[in-house]
Amino acid sequence: MKAAFITRTGPPEVIEVGSLPDPVPGPREALVRVRACAVNPIDTYVRAGAVAFPLPFPFIVGCDLAGEVVAVGSDVQSFRPGMRVWGSNQGLLGRQGTFAELAAIDERWLYPTPDSVSDRDAAAAALVSITAHLGLVSHAKLEAGEMLFVNGASGGVGSAVVQVARALGARAIGTAGTEEKRARVRSLGADEVFDYRADDLVEAARAAAPNGIDVYWETQREPMFDRAVGLLADGGRIVLMAGRDVRTPFPVGPFYVKGCRMVGFAMFKADWRLQAAAALDINRWMAAGRLRVPIARVLPLDQTSLAHALQEASTVARTGVLDGKLVIEP
Ligand SMILES: NC(=O)c1ccc[n+]([C@@H]2O[C@H](COP(=O)([O-])OP(=O)(O)OC[C@H]3O[C@@H](n4cnc5c(N)ncnc54)[C@H](OP(=O)(O)O)[C@@H]3O)[C@@H](O)[C@H]2O)c1
Repeated sequence: MKAAFITRTGPPEVIEVGSLPDPVPGPREALVRVRACAVNPIDTYVRAGAVAFPLPFPFIVGCDLAGEVVAVGSDVQSFRPGMRVWGSNQGLLGRQGTFAELAAIDERWLYPTPDSVSDRDAAAAALVSITAHLGLVSHAKLEAGEMLFVNGASGGVGSAVVQVARALGARAIGTAGTEEKRARVRSLGADEVFDYRADDLVEAARAAAPNGIDVYWETQREPMFDRAVGLLADGGRIVLMAGRDVRTPFPVGPFYVKGCRMVGFAMFKADWRLQAAAALDINRWMAAGRLRVPIARVLPLDQTSLAHALQEASTVARTGVLDGKLVIEP
């Protein structure tokens, strides 16, 4: 099969596209003909060796996939050949990745794709929607009627967070870098979207949420805790999910006096049961047209190296060149 893989960690150019043996599904695995997979920032950290996972070389890059089951192992219960599936959390913790024509995946990490949802949309939504669900439902316990603020609402995670919050009956406001991106986030259901560079951002957010923010979701590596805690209502929660090396001063006083809480998490550490529960809701929302993660570009497998360079430039160097997810079609 054709695959995008690395034999050592390094810059995007270490990704090779070539032939590897077809994977043979184990007893609990389904063999998936991959029709679409999406790039996530973590793919670039794993490729670069910046997160220390065991890498079975040749290591196939990528976490997300959508496609069709073509064979199943003897103990597979939930899937049979011909079924459309999507999934995430591959290419991590020693597991092989998804950027290939075929992938053998433990059935616990696969979910049926609703008929009305394309493989592109299912792949684009995979990791970011599970992240949004874990953060809002399991960790922040966002409730209907509450107000969410997403710093970086136009990104992959941010655009899923806004839509999941709306699907849960909450309201959302947030930030983005350009007028086009702000308009797009509004079209996803946010009441107000501000320029994250604006001097009057805090005043504007207070005007949009006079009773305060119940959940402040930070997508950035260097959180602005003074701003976040200042905007929170009593009992507010902060969600953190980026910035491994960051050590930032923290406004302890207002945080405890308001009775706030803060949670950090990494989606790949969530148990498969929790992720499968998230996928049930995600499927319902995708099928109802309530959750659709914007796609910036669709590229062939041969351009995986370019896709990594673009993702890195956009997310790590913060150029914002991407206006949605990068989807690869093997
Ligand atoms: N812990 C976990 O489980 C988990 C899961 C997924 C992702 N992550 C991490 O979360 C981060 C975001 O991931 P992603 O996939 O959403 O990346 P992304 O698609 O590149 O989105 C980045 C977001 O940051 C915004 N941004 C850039 N500069 C900003 C600034 N100065 N102030 C506020 N916002 C700014 C961008 O806005 P514009 O594009 O409008 O400029 C965009 O909305 C990455 O570090 C990723 O590794 C963690």
